[in-house]
Amino acid sequence: MEAIASNEPVVETNKPVPKNGPLIYRQSGWTRLTHWLWAFSLFFMLLSGLQIFNARPQLYIGKQSGFEFHNTILEIGAENTANGPRGFTEIFGHRFDTTGVLGWSGPPGQETQRAFPSWLTIPSYYDLGTARVVHFFFAWVLTTTLLIWLIAGLINGHIRRDLAPRVDDLRKLPRDIVDHAKLKFHHTREYNTLQKMAYGGVLFVLLPLMIITGLAMSPSMNSVLPWLNEILGGRQTARTIHFTVMLMLVGFFIIHILMILAAGPINELRSIITGWYRTDPPAKHDQPTERSA
Ligand code: HEM
Repeated sequence: MEAIASNEPVVETNKPVPKNGPLIYRQSGWTRLTHWLWAFSLFFMLLSGLQIFNARPQLYIGKQSGFEFHNTILEIGAENTANGPRGFTEIFGHRFDTTGVLGWSGPPGQETQRAFPSWLTIPSYYDLGTARVVHFFFAWVLTTTLLIWLIAGLINGHIRRDLAPRVDDLRKLPRDIVDHAKLKFHHTREYNTLQKMAYGGVLFVLLPLMIITGLAMSPSMNSVLPWLNEILGGRQTARTIHFTVMLMLVGFFIIHILMILAAGPINELRSIITGWYRTDPPAKHDQPTERSA
């Protein structure tokens, strides 16, 4: 593989390349490093966060919680029935039987009451203290990583060039949606409109909101920035937003992986690991929409 490290498409000198387009240097070292750091951090934060949730498996709206308030919007628990203990999940008053996964789970004959099952939490056994240490450690790794990504992206032009929305993106959106629905992918240097929306949404909305709502729940932050809790609608609402953002990130992750598999996992992974990306032959670039992952 012989190519020049530049942001412009560069043709390989090893000829011929009849079926494939040029190999280009697409993801900078900063993009790749920060990508894997936040993917790694979010993995540990998700599993330790579910363990922390297990200590109080309800979500509320507002500033307070307790029996005297009727502001529970989600509850995961267990109840005794004629058929023995069953796990349930109640969302906005609608109750679902989730035995075996949520509320009541474990190896056959050793089931226990836990909101999220042991295979979905860090540590797998009940240990709130360790979960909090893991969660807060990776929260700082994630926050630092996001700041590094922002500074590097502003300096090297990644944010302006690859993520900033343009008027043209809006024009391409309908065609882009149709192409995604047909799993028709184009491999070019630019992110397509849906990618820009998804990546921009994660990096500029979901992750910052995750950090802000996390800070709003911290008692020490409450004394430093008391208004933060207030503008988010209270501590319990901040916790509910934090949980909802987690669900949205999990949703993003599932679609992200499915799109990568559909667009060609070897080429996509090479791009996010080494920076090098195989584009479509020039003729295909004439098509109206861009590559997707
Ligand atoms: C929670 C985990 C993850 C999150 C939040 C995430 C998020 C993102 C974001 C925001 C980008 C755009 C980065 C930028 O342009 O600065 C991106 C790119 C990418 N990610 Fe992930 N990612 C995650 C996990 C993964 C995993 C596990 C894989 C591989 C299996 C993966 C593969 C890729 C690839 C190949 C790209 C480049 C896509 C392209 O250039 O078209 N990601 N990811």
